[in-house]
Amino acid sequence: MSQAPGLQARLQALRYSSSPAPSLKVLDQLQLPGEAVYLPVTDANEAHAVISSMQVRGAPLIAMVAVLGLAVDMSAKYIGSPSADGSSADGSFAASSTGSASSAAAYAEERLAFLATSRPTAVNLFNAIADVRAALALVKDSSDAAVCATVQAAAERLLAQDVSNNEALGEAGAAAIKALHPAAASLSLVTICNTGSLATAGHGTALGVARSLHATSSLGSLAILETRPYNQGSRLTAYEALEDGLPGAKLLCDSAAAAYLAKGGVHAAVVGADRVAANGDTANKIGTYALALHCRSHGVPFFVAAPTTTLDASTPSAAEIVIEERPADELRKSSGAPPGIAVWNPAFDVTPASLITGIVTEKGVIYPDGNGEYDIAAFLADPAGY
Ligand code: MRU
Repeated sequence: MSQAPGLQARLQALRYSSSPAPSLKVLDQLQLPGEAVYLPVTDANEAHAVISSMQVRGAPLIAMVAVLGLAVDMSAKYIGSPSADGSSADGSFAASSTGSASSAAAYAEERLAFLATSRPTAVNLFNAIADVRAALALVKDSSDAAVCATVQAAAERLLAQDVSNNEALGEAGAAAIKALHPAAASLSLVTICNTGSLATAGHGTALGVARSLHATSSLGSLAILETRPYNQGSRLTAYEALEDGLPGAKLLCDSAAAAYLAKGGVHAAVVGADRVAANGDTANKIGTYALALHCRSHGVPFFVAAPTTTLDASTPSAAEIVIEERPADELRKSSGAPPGIAVWNPAFDVTPASLITGIVTEKGVIYPDGNGEYDIAAFLADPAGY
């Protein structure tokens, strides 16, 4: 398999091919919007490095790069590199000269544990690792080749599901916002961070909702918060909005959000998520909580858009979510601060469920019950009946 057809080449966050052997390249997002540079990921070490350095970022994308990186790694280690025409004379791949004594199953487990240390907050990474582990449990006594094939198939399944999930949740979110504003001919949204093709395998989550509205000529404007200190809004979402010609796309510095909402005319905020706890509390990019508070003050509906791979029914509430703190120098350098100043640099914050109007997934929109409470486990058990 390879990337989703039709996705604009400049918005491909990763380029994966399964034949003649799995191979992976990722777009270095630290160089955007200036240059589109694709970096090869040939093993789990390189997958870990591009994730922890934020050359790739975004909850769904992190998960895909980790498990696809493992598939590439294991194929090279246990199956071997194909010859120039993609195969050896008998049609099989040559055995790797760097093969080790450890079994492929043991190696996979050790590398998965390592990949789990790349970033702590986005649950998609841990859900993807759990998926691969579950698939491995079914083949634990099989040959190394079968174990490698299992890892590759599990990783490819995740990649294939992501775009279709995003398209479905984009439509669900667009419908939910339209339903709240039936008289509006076009809708004005505000968003934060980058939740588009660059954060996923394509279409995006919150930005996917904007894209789905645009597809029916229902998007009036999209205000994009800059999203300091990494500027995912100004560097990445603005870039995607221009690529797609989204109408009314405009950039705001983070501190302009309240003033912008106070002007009136914004129909909804739509943001992504890195982890949605069982009670609906949502970890997302730093600044999301402030945006939710501003929306509550100004009566603007606040939606979280996230595939079910971002839901974490095993974490009861925000109190148990690990919030990543990035190195002090990342903030010092981006803000021009003097080297000696102490820094607190959280990558994410938590928006309490009480500020969230609805959580949009590919299986439908989760609304709070009559008491204002979410039950993510109940939704996952029976999305249609929730
Ligand atoms: O630190 P990042 O850039 O990985 O943070 C990304 C976000 O917070 C996104 O909003 C979230 O992952 C949703 S991406 C579809």
